[in-house]
Amino acid sequence: MKITVVGAGAVGATCADNIARKELAEELILLDIKEGFAEGKAIDMMQTAALLGFDTKITGVTNDYASTAGSEVVVITSGLPRKPGMTREELIGINAGIVKGVAENILKHSPNTIIIVVSNPMDTMNYLALKTSGLPKNRVIGMGGALDSSRFKYYLSQELDCSPADLNAMVIGGHGDTTMIPLINHATWNSIPVTQFLSKEQQDKVVASTMVGGATLTKLIGTSAWYAPGAGTASMVESIVRDQKKLISSGVFLDGEYGQKDISLVVPVILGKNGAEKILDIKLNDTEQATFNKSADAVRSMNDVLHD
Ligand code: NAI
Repeated sequence: MKITVVGAGAVGATCADNIARKELAEELILLDIKEGFAEGKAIDMMQTAALLGFDTKITGVTNDYASTAGSEVVVITSGLPRKPGMTREELIGINAGIVKGVAENILKHSPNTIIIVVSNPMDTMNYLALKTSGLPKNRVIGMGGALDSSRFKYYLSQELDCSPADLNAMVIGGHGDTTMIPLINHATWNSIPVTQFLSKEQQDKVVASTMVGGATLTKLIGTSAWYAPGAGTASMVESIVRDQKKLISSGVFLDGEYGQKDISLVVPVILGKNGAEKILDIKLNDTEQATFNKSADAVRSMNDVLHD
């Protein structure tokens, strides 16, 4: 198994670190445009192999796409992160050029790969990667829901004073502060609806905190987060390469599901060896569906910027 991570910055390196620790691949290529940067990160990570006891061979390269040849999964994290006060959407101009170029180069050497797009604004970048690559829709998947759902569980656990691992909760819609939809009515604590334990006020607080979860961290850290984004991406890679068929909310191209077409949005997806193997078209109530439609409108107008 060979995996490539493009972008050796905060998220890319953390994702690579998780992939290596879990030994998801024999060979892991870390690629960055900045001279020597990926090489340095790869050597640093390889120097943890003896301490952590993993066998994955990590190689860092500067823009050398030939080294990525034959990658079964490629993670794209290259691009600018947001700074305090910025929205993910404001990154579109510069990141669209980066993601398009990276996807084209990757495809030259790994024409049948599975791409996981992390760069923001993710919904639009995933749509762009899909259109640029020409890959079938099950092979281009966006990371956002795995992270937002984990943040949702974190805020629920704070409110319930329980272990996040005992919670089942999912965020769908767009991967933006105003477009994501934490499905509070579907969230459970060991199969009991969390709404039984939380007042309406507490539920609203959890949902609101989840939606601005990324912005809260950006304000505290000064740039966007990386531990949970890196771990969230690695969990998707794991489900794919180990064919675990986990249900992970992920960005996928919709062709009628949830009443939407020609758009990438975050919905519950089974991830296995063929990528996004199945989209679960769960029943939303009228309010949830209306919010989903509004998110789709917002993401679609972002996608339109690509054509301008
Ligand atoms: P970072 O600045 O630490 O790393 C980005 C890396 O990409 C840099 O090392 C840079 O040299 C590299 N890069 C830029 N252009 C490149 C190119 N053409 N080819 C190869 N490498 C290139 O940023 P960070 O924090 O790692 O974030 C990366 C991206 O992920 C951002 O767009 C950020 O907004 C996004 N993100 C998405 C999340 C999600 O849930 N989808 C969560 C967190 C971040």
